[in-house]
Amino acid sequence: RGGRENQMAFSEAQEELVLRSWKAMKPDSESIALKFFLRIFEIAPAAKPMFPFLRDAGEDAPLESHPKLKAHAVTVFVMACESATQLRKTGDVKVREATLRRLGATHVRAGVADAHFEVVKTALLDTIEGAVPEMWTPEMKAAWEEAYDQLAAAIKEEMKLAA
Ligand code: HEM
Repeated sequence: RGGRENQMAFSEAQEELVLRSWKAMKPDSESIALKFFLRIFEIAPAAKPMFPFLRDAGEDAPLESHPKLKAHAVTVFVMACESATQLRKTGDVKVREATLRRLGATHVRAGVADAHFEVVKTALLDTIEGAVPEMWTPEMKAAWEEAYDQLAAAIKEEMKLAA
């Protein structure tokens, strides 16, 4: 299961695909990030109560009005993109150790499971496809998938240590 011990080389072409699409999405990243999050809850409504600020807001509070939710969505986007850059340079995901440790703890505390990482991945890929349909190819999909998988594997590993 593609853990960190099982690295696949990330090619220059793959990095280019991620960066090119990221650049095209960047000016619009706030609204794209929001769509990304709405998509997550469309696929998995059960993920909603994990976010404390959503839990408190009640069933029908508009999701658009949660700055923290948007922040999380943008972070996941940006980190997957940075992960792609580092994968090619170093063959590994280099999130600062302290950051990774905190991410492990945060996601354990929130009750995030492997299945949620899959949901977020699907939502991410759907969102990018919808944002840059003219660029979208199987190769671009594979590049984003690889970047996300490596990042998710790093966080999951840290979650095991924090559990
Ligand atoms: C919090 C990143 C996947 C749910 C956070 C934070 C970051 C982050 C940076 C802020 C807190 C901190 O720094 O410790 C990521 C990345 C992911 C990912 C890069 C994937 C590669 C997920 C998944 C879920 C999730 C799959 C579940 C659906 C949450 C929740 C919080 C959080 C509930 C706490 C929000 C709060 O209390 O304000 N995440 N996350 N994350 N994340 Fe993620």
